[in-house]
Amino acid sequence: MDPERWTEWTLCRAPVVRIYECAERLVVLSPEGDGHALTGDSAALAAEVLTFLAAPRSGAEVLAHVEALTGAPIERPEVIAELLRLLLRARALEHAGREPRSPRTRAPGPRVVLGLTGAVATMHAPALVQRLQARGFEVRVTATDSALRFVRAEALEALTHHPVVSSIWPEGQIHRVPHIELAQWADAVVICPASATTIARLAVGDHASVVAAVALAARAPVLVVPSMNPAMYAEPAVQRNLARIVEDGLHVAHPARALEVADPPGTRTPMLGGAPPPEVVVQLLEAIVRERASAAVTSPPRGAEGWDRLYRTCAPQQLPWQSEAADPDLLAALAGEGETGLSVLEIGAGLGALATAIAGRGHAIVATDVSTAALEQARARAPESRAIWLADDITETRLRGRFDVALDRACLHLLSDAEARRYAAALAGLVRPGGALVVKTLAEPTPGVTPYSAESIAALLGPEFALEREAASTLPGPSAAPAARLFVLRRQADG
Ligand SMILES: Cc1cc2nc3c(=O)[nH]c(=O)nc-3n(C[C@H](O)[C@H](O)[C@H](O)COP(=O)(O)O)c2cc1C
Repeated sequence: MDPERWTEWTLCRAPVVRIYECAERLVVLSPEGDGHALTGDSAALAAEVLTFLAAPRSGAEVLAHVEALTGAPIERPEVIAELLRLLLRARALEHAGREPRSPRTRAPGPRVVLGLTGAVATMHAPALVQRLQARGFEVRVTATDSALRFVRAEALEALTHHPVVSSIWPEGQIHRVPHIELAQWADAVVICPASATTIARLAVGDHASVVAAVALAARAPVLVVPSMNPAMYAEPAVQRNLARIVEDGLHVAHPARALEVADPPGTRTPMLGGAPPPEVVVQLLEAIVRERASAAVTSPPRGAEGWDRLYRTCAPQQLPWQSEAADPDLLAALAGEGETGLSVLEIGAGLGALATAIAGRGHAIVATDVSTAALEQARARAPESRAIWLADDITETRLRGRFDVALDRACLHLLSDAEARRYAAALAGLVRPGGALVVKTLAEPTPGVTPYSAESIAALLGPEFALEREAASTLPGPSAAPAARLFVLRRQADG
């Protein structure tokens, strides 16, 4: 950024500013706490510029705006430049792109059950919930009776739009068996802060509190974040319990230095034993969720529920088949059927890169996947796409109608023999006579994958389809492009 060419900068008000006004003064603080007071006209100018820069604008636009307000050319434009530099140094402004911050709908991320216990750090729970939500987690809260002495359920319910579950017994009609339903719902469980008592329950398998019961019943990873007085943390019994739950496969966070509330306020110094701050807890949880997800992708899940969990918990770059660009050979095969205006069915659209590219070429595309989580992400990634996103399992399809072309990028090879036969029957009904079926499968067997040859695919899909072309291909992913085969099959006339 050339400091002299300030009129060409694009600037925007920072999301958080440290500014207050009093009487004639406007005080700008830097994140380090250094203050700069402006008075009179300078204060009014700064307030006006900050309001104007709520949306990204160039330095030249700021100058023109101020000139319009004063009704005359600014004699010393460097005054504006100095003000912008001051606000930038104080991080009240930031350099920005021209794109407006679009309120994109967010696809659902991992589901986390947050367990709160009677440790004093529970008073920070609303901040933790907000931090989790900001990182895309869908949050439900469980709390012990002691926890609800440190935070009100109403505050957490306002944030999550769901009841705080504080009893093993159902309250209201939401959950019949709360601990099992929440344990099954969760992609991860975090107990933060975890009291010494709750840690003891986890160590002995005591399900009496709903917080411990959800963690014990969950098959999802569990993060326990101890938080207590340093002497309690050092107790042999607590250390024994922590070692036990680590051995049982729970994830236990190391403590941070925190203030001990048992000490009088003026004498408190940070001591080891407290929960780390919310942003660190969220980082630990994200790492644990990603670790579990990368183990899950090595053998593809079966059923819509498994795929939903995978798409909720995996970052796109963790999915070996995920490509941000449409495969050129699939687009070329489609172009062979027609440049535009075809009705296309995609099976296993995933995060939607291929469907969006096809819709962009003027084809009408119905993009299906068994996973609604994948389709919601696809929709959120390309809100302008004209693709129709539809949850459907081709082996039990609800679709009717006849398409010019059906495309399958890496689905067929995941199906069992019985599923593959239902797939073939469904596609015979969905592709019009004379239409094409374009299928890409991996060339080498990997866990859960059945590669196809020209003979085996012709045997599966014939006599309704005749194999027209077979070509060597790849399945590009984030880090590799394993060998694949591309098949183009022609739907034969009915009867
Ligand atoms: C003011 C106050 C603060 C407390 N802070 C903690 C704490 O930080 N960590 C802890 O393990 N216990 C703490 N306790 C004790 C727990 O509340 C108590 O052991 C309780 O039985 C925990 O039960 P729970 O795990 O079912 O919530 C505190 C108690 C009080 C009264």
